[in-house]
Amino acid sequence: MIHFPDGFLWGSSTSGPQSEGRLSGDGKGDNTWDYWFSQAPEKFHNQIGPENTSTFYTHYQEDIDLLEATGHTAFRTSIQWSRLIPDGDGEVNPLAVTFYRDVFQRVKDKGITLLVNLYHFDLPMVLENKGGWTQRETVLAYVRYAKVCFEEFGDLVDRWITFNEPIVPVEGGYLYQFHYPAVIDAKAAAQVAYHTQLASSMAVQASHEINPDKKIGIVLNLTPAYPRSQHPADVKAARIAELFQAKSFLDPSVKGEYPQELIYILKKHQLMPTYLPEDLEVIKANTVDYLGVNYYQPLRVAAPKHQAHPDSPFFPEFYYDHYEMPGRKMNPHRGWEIYERGIYDIAKNLEKEYSNIEWILTENGMGVEGEEKFRQDGIIQDDYRIEFIKGHLSELHKAIEEGANCQGYLLWTFIDCWSWLNSYKNRYGLVELDLETQERRIKKSGKWFKALSQNNGF
Ligand code: BG6
Repeated sequence: MIHFPDGFLWGSSTSGPQSEGRLSGDGKGDNTWDYWFSQAPEKFHNQIGPENTSTFYTHYQEDIDLLEATGHTAFRTSIQWSRLIPDGDGEVNPLAVTFYRDVFQRVKDKGITLLVNLYHFDLPMVLENKGGWTQRETVLAYVRYAKVCFEEFGDLVDRWITFNEPIVPVEGGYLYQFHYPAVIDAKAAAQVAYHTQLASSMAVQASHEINPDKKIGIVLNLTPAYPRSQHPADVKAARIAELFQAKSFLDPSVKGEYPQELIYILKKHQLMPTYLPEDLEVIKANTVDYLGVNYYQPLRVAAPKHQAHPDSPFFPEFYYDHYEMPGRKMNPHRGWEIYERGIYDIAKNLEKEYSNIEWILTENGMGVEGEEKFRQDGIIQDDYRIEFIKGHLSELHKAIEEGANCQGYLLWTFIDCWSWLNSYKNRYGLVELDLETQERRIKKSGKWFKALSQNNGF
């Protein structure tokens, strides 16, 4: 039996835009996903858009009972900026305040630790129309929004989170075209990344002023970049991949400063963002109290096979190729590698290089396409998910025994939820969602997770 430390948190993560749905008269404004779906529904799997997410807005009372039924001692969701302040920087929507206060109160009444994220890829469209995160005005609007959240909900929230995986909208929106505005513009990408970091640091500052007793962190998708071999060119590729993928937010968020080599590369390609010297003081002085770590699959890279064409737009892949390791273990239902040891390596890296900062595993999970084929006697028999969780928990446990400062494990996700361009393609939940009837059914993993939580191990 593997036992976790007393008080270890067990639960799951979801987000507002992926679970709430939209109801006529709820006062929510459009965010970039609402707009993009209205313009290009064909981009979204089965043309299911953000309006039809898992109806948490109307089912939350029942869903909070399911948190208890699946053994949650912690739950993470996000506030939708476009629900609370529909145009991003104007009036507060009173219906949103009532909704979130009731949700949070009910979670608290169950004795569940509540983690609330302020931003999960969802920018109000009014701000996007003014240039979005390329503009400093968006930073200021975000900080105002964050302060409204701290003031309205600070008594109910246990831990705040500034952003979820901030590198993803940078890559998706400005390099690889899977988030709005889906352009290819590395200079804008660097500016957006910088403004997001500044917004996060300023929110940390505001939270410490308004709710000094509450911890605030940032959620990063971390994986070490594993080189193909120990050849110096492969090792260099991995070092640079990690600068872009992880250290671009990890270092300023935890250490208060950017890695010199990243600055050097950005300067070399004329990609340095515009900034004010005093911003760097703000970033330096307002590091996070804890980290959320999302981990699904490892990043494996090799030295690039080809040199970039001088006229090609800049991509981080000028410095590395993605690499598929022969014999890797796969989740065939999602097409992602499974590498449990990644958790251990992340833990060791945080322990050694980031002063053993407190952290929570805020996302880990197994997406499965066509999961209904695993239904027997009315229940999804997701033994593969149980094995996936056990494998990762074993590595996490080993790291904790050796001194890692991890305080909890949150699975992605609670109830199958909508996921950006992939919509409902990949199912991740402990609870199955019937898209036709909106009925919720606990999967085998949901029952197992309750036992895991009750036993504080397996
Ligand atoms: C995570 C995101 O990285 O991946 C979630 O934080 C997302 O928002 C999850 O839903 C799963 O993604 P996908 O594409 O497999 O559905």
